[in-house]
Amino acid sequence: MENHQQSTKQSEPQAQVKSGENGSVDSSMQLWSALENTDAMANLQEAGTVLASGGIVAFPTETVYGLGADARNTSAVEAVFAAKGRPSDNPLIVHISQQSQLEPLVQRVLPVEQQLMDTFWPGPLTIVMPVREKALSPRVTAGLDTVGVRMPDHPVALALITAAGCPLAAPSANRSGRPSPTTAAHVADDLNGRINGIVDGGSAGVGVESTVVQVQTDGSILVLRPGGITREQLLTIADRVELDPALSGVAAEVAPRAPGMKYAHYAPQGNMSIVIGDRLSDVSALMKQQLAQAQTRGERTGVLVFDEDEAVYEGSLRLTLGSLTRLEEAASQLYGRLREFDEANITFILAQGCAEEGVGLAVMNRLNKAAGGQIIRV
Ligand code: TXA
Ligand code: MG
Repeated sequence: MENHQQSTKQSEPQAQVKSGENGSVDSSMQLWSALENTDAMANLQEAGTVLASGGIVAFPTETVYGLGADARNTSAVEAVFAAKGRPSDNPLIVHISQQSQLEPLVQRVLPVEQQLMDTFWPGPLTIVMPVREKALSPRVTAGLDTVGVRMPDHPVALALITAAGCPLAAPSANRSGRPSPTTAAHVADDLNGRINGIVDGGSAGVGVESTVVQVQTDGSILVLRPGGITREQLLTIADRVELDPALSGVAAEVAPRAPGMKYAHYAPQGNMSIVIGDRLSDVSALMKQQLAQAQTRGERTGVLVFDEDEAVYEGSLRLTLGSLTRLEEAASQLYGRLREFDEANITFILAQGCAEEGVGLAVMNRLNKAAGGQIIRV
């Protein structure tokens, strides 16, 4: 299959990376611009050469920024784990730019997997398949006999993979436990001085990570991590689409099939809870009450709400995720908002929940993780 680059949702070009936490990007780190009006192709060639020679480089995808390394090079892959502070039992997703790059990586492709690729690649879908022996550094798969592969729907990511000339192992380009980065500036804030460089391609579009799936022997699809491709979209390919039971929270004792889903993740520094209820007025009344109590304790309070909520939350930083009727917007804004709470040193956060439909499933999954599972029902 060729790359449908023309179908790529191009994100708005935005300001260049301004600063790291301490006001500047470390001089040991290179910044390559892939924004409009720059010599993007030459810059990507340069970044690709760094990757091909074992360097680690952050780059934009249509979901979030990734931190790439040659997936066959163990020391490069180890450098990714070290830069992120990532537990070594959590495998990395491998990114390719053409379907012909898949064959050397996996033992076989099932018909349903092929259909998924034909329908959703390039795009925010990672497919876990049996890995071919010696195709990749064993660090990439963290000792599993499977590998998660995806083809990102972003012209900069595709051009960079092609320039590097190798499959790129790339987790999200955040320090482990922090919200995933959706701009080059977020990457710089987390990884300044720890990596060889950043390719700036503006802000990522979808905002939450790819959906991770595994096709079962009976042809059904198991969702290991909800993401940019919705359950409803997957149902157009298979009759049965199930969510890994470990994700529902009911089966907390069951280990998730995607090892990464067991870690506290995406967390802002403040204590966060989600408030859920059938009536928005009940939700906001309870939030007001809890915020007032928190303020009496001396907390710096914040709320994460949808546009439909017109309540006034006195003394609290109010951030919105857009309208409840456009949850794509919530997905694209979520991680940036969580970082804003940190920048304002907010210590107590209440977030409104949304329906677990469409991309709302991924939004609620990430909110739930950010809140460490603390949910208040009214
Ligand atoms: O959108 C995305 O997927 C982004 C961009 C950069 O492509 N990448 C990303 O990677 O989110 P990371 O490493 O932050 O998350 C990968 C998730 C983890 O939960 C990991 O456990 C799971 O995918 N995973 C990777 N390989 C797997 C495998 N072989 N079996 C099961 N789960 C796997
Ligand atoms: Mg991640």
